Amino acid sequence: MTKDETKILFSTPISSLRGNIIVPGDKSLSHRALMIGSISTGTTRIKGMLESDDTLRTMEAMKTLGVSISHHKTSDEDFWIIHGRGVGGLLEPSEVIDVGNSGTGCRLLLGLISGYNFKAIITGDQSLKKRPMSRVMDPLYGMGCRFESRPGGLLPLLVKGTSNLTPITYTLPVASAQVKSAILLAGLHSRGNTRVIEPVETRDHTENLLSYFGAEIVCEPYEKVTGSSIISIKGLQELKGRNINVPGDPSSAVFLIVAALITEGSEIILENVGLNPKRANVFKTLKKMGADLTVEESEKSHPEPVGTITARYSKLSAIEISEEDASSMIDEYPILSIAAASANGKTVMKGLSELRYKESNRLQAIFEGLNLCGVKSEIEGDNLIIFGSSGKVKGGGVIETHFDHRIAMAFLILGFNSISPIGVDNVDSIKTSYPDFFKDSRNLGAYFVDKELSEVDSFISKKY
Ligand code: S3P
Repeated sequence: MTKDETKILFSTPISSLRGNIIVPGDKSLSHRALMIGSISTGTTRIKGMLESDDTLRTMEAMKTLGVSISHHKTSDEDFWIIHGRGVGGLLEPSEVIDVGNSGTGCRLLLGLISGYNFKAIITGDQSLKKRPMSRVMDPLYGMGCRFESRPGGLLPLLVKGTSNLTPITYTLPVASAQVKSAILLAGLHSRGNTRVIEPVETRDHTENLLSYFGAEIVCEPYEKVTGSSIISIKGLQELKGRNINVPGDPSSAVFLIVAALITEGSEIILENVGLNPKRANVFKTLKKMGADLTVEESEKSHPEPVGTITARYSKLSAIEISEEDASSMIDEYPILSIAAASANGKTVMKGLSELRYKESNRLQAIFEGLNLCGVKSEIEGDNLIIFGSSGKVKGGGVIETHFDHRIAMAFLILGFNSISPIGVDNVDSIKTSYPDFFKDSRNLGAYFVDKELSEVDSFISKKY
């Protein structure tokens, strides 16, 4: 669903959500499957890949780097085939690479191409052009890659790679799977062993997939700093093309899960949800809030676990979420805030500094959006405090999404449990991660309506 700039899209209170949904492919894994398949030898088949704006741009980038990728779709089969070029086999791009809205696409790609003796220009959309790239450029510079960027390390970037990268040992200064992955992909193109020390755990899809494709990569506790791990990868090893089933994205599933939890009378079943333990903390957190969730893991599946989640309407209670939990749920705070807004009591979410550097400044966007919908919230340093309404929220606001998909989806869902409708100023961004969000939500019973700017004031004052 794209949106006419002169209209505002509203979600309205609904009676219940019911039904089954097959969750769309995991975004993080889809980017990685495309990139790692491209530098493997032989053929890689990807089933269940997320076909969203972000991942299709990564696919275009790989094609621009000389990789042949095609779609095989018949009445009973649907997969993508990559004819990999092997480590060191990518070609100089003759076009500017535009990764759109995707921080993951951009940062991983920077690592991937840093070990090639060619130049490439990388750009992105208005949101990505504001996001910091120095966190990736700094370690890659240390390995020998050179960059020219806009002041402040911003896109567009000119990347001057080298086929002579030096392996490094790098301690991550921010908890970031993107930075870790960029260094590991660069390390794979260097002569020797590259090590990343991770003081705080982040998602491990790059490690899992590299190992699934046959790479020698070791992750172990790092004795010198308690609680941290060290990941080591050997450079210039061969990866072998594989068949991958991409599980559904838990970060997309959780939007509909919270929608069911806060909407009276709801019961929904979500199939094929990725249950990588480093992504599943949000389900545990919702359970701590009193969520009626059943998580059933399916029989062994490769390369990562999947399962079915049943979510039923629940009376949620406020909790305190510690700073240690932040990196494992970093994409989930917009929708967790919606759960907290409907819960009983004061929820405190700690250590959210990284939320400022996402597709928008999410800390600020959540705070402003909630207050506009009659839910009191405060920012204290890096903590977000939400005073839940213990039931329906007032609603009746038009949210500025800052072109951020997760802010748009989160506030549309809050509209299901509000007294007056909630509108969002842009929904185009949703196609970056969950192109079927409207179709899936409507199938479960959600209702959305477009209003002309001139109708907005009277519509938001409507009470259900
Ligand atoms: C991602 C890592 C996270 C996350 C992003 C996806 C990944 O970003 O927010 O949506 O696939 O590696 P950071 O690495 O910046 O924390």
